[in-house]
Amino acid sequence: MFESLKPIAKDPILGLMAAFRADKREKKIDLGVGVYQDDSGRTPVMKSVKQAEALLMDLEHTKSYQGIAGDNDYNQQMMSLLFGSNHSIVGSGRLATLQAPGGSGSLRVGAEVVLRARPEAKLWVGVPTWPNHIPLLGSAGFSIEQYPYYDLSTHKINTEAMMDALSQVPAGDVVLLHGCCHNPTGADLTKQHWDQIAQLALDRGFIPFIDIAYQGLGDGLDADAYGVRMMAEKLPELIVASSCSKNFGLYRERTGSITFIAETSEQAQLISSQAMSIARQIYSMPPAHGALLVALILGDDQLRADWQAELEEVRLRIMSMRTLLTDSINNNAAGIDFSHIKQQRGMFSFLGIESQQLERLREEFAIYIVSSTRVNIAGINSNNIEYLSQSIRTVLDAG
Ligand code: LMR
Repeated sequence: MFESLKPIAKDPILGLMAAFRADKREKKIDLGVGVYQDDSGRTPVMKSVKQAEALLMDLEHTKSYQGIAGDNDYNQQMMSLLFGSNHSIVGSGRLATLQAPGGSGSLRVGAEVVLRARPEAKLWVGVPTWPNHIPLLGSAGFSIEQYPYYDLSTHKINTEAMMDALSQVPAGDVVLLHGCCHNPTGADLTKQHWDQIAQLALDRGFIPFIDIAYQGLGDGLDADAYGVRMMAEKLPELIVASSCSKNFGLYRERTGSITFIAETSEQAQLISSQAMSIARQIYSMPPAHGALLVALILGDDQLRADWQAELEEVRLRIMSMRTLLTDSINNNAAGIDFSHIKQQRGMFSFLGIESQQLERLREEFAIYIVSSTRVNIAGINSNNIEYLSQSIRTVLDAG
């Protein structure tokens, strides 16, 4: 049977991560996969997470199954994180939130619920977007449409073209938006963009589907949720997939949530039952460990404050690496301006260099960057910045 299978090209991000790990060179830099590294190049377990793990050792008395929707406390806490404690939507009955396996599992459940409700709905994704969005959501059954997002030549959002395209989206279609820290470009929607898109959603009748995987890594926990909170207030329907991989450093624990806002509480209950039947068909129920930790952290004032302080350190370190990288490569002989890196937010920005230059960085200097030229800024540190910037200047100078 299996002889008919064809090999599949490696995943552009996870394949690169494997290649980096296999590289035996001592001096190597991983700017590929979106994982936070501290100034010593490690991806530590956050202290607040360690404390919650110690607490959980005592508190956890069973490994019996959780429900399909995961841990109820976790779901409540995720709502408080996404919407803040005083948002009118919380307590309205119009929310349905389910724990799901990571941001990816959350996106998938969201997609499948939409397609059960409206099989002909199309999904509109910005160009570019996270490379796994299209395989993940397309294989759920969505036909994919695209709207222009980022202009590589100006390193800015192409506002006019984006709004033009979004003003053509038919009623009942779904528009995928990045809540903050746009992956791969680092170019985030401004408040004006968000407000304008919300108005278009109201006028046209399309439904925004917000993927927020980096809350707290851009401008801060509240500022990063502007789009989610404003749309939750203004729109009758909204879908939000969120992830604790990055802001809690729980990558391998697969901790995410999917939230639906419905027009009525009756609809929210229907959505919840449909989402649970979908989860049951795909993975039965989400893994517990990460969600229990998040519930403990967010439910305890001290732990929550500790976690917020740690997250703020992460955010500020990334910002300072943005400045450091920009300043250390802007004086290249080729005269290329990298100031956009300093201005953008989150883990990623495009370098925007030629593919042979990128290739040379990998082959000759063991610097791993995704082929789109997306750089994980969090992989830069005070020990590797000199080697990194010298190497980039060398490949740029060679043309
Ligand atoms: C990334 O974009 O690098 C991360 O979200 C990891 C992944 O799964 O692609």
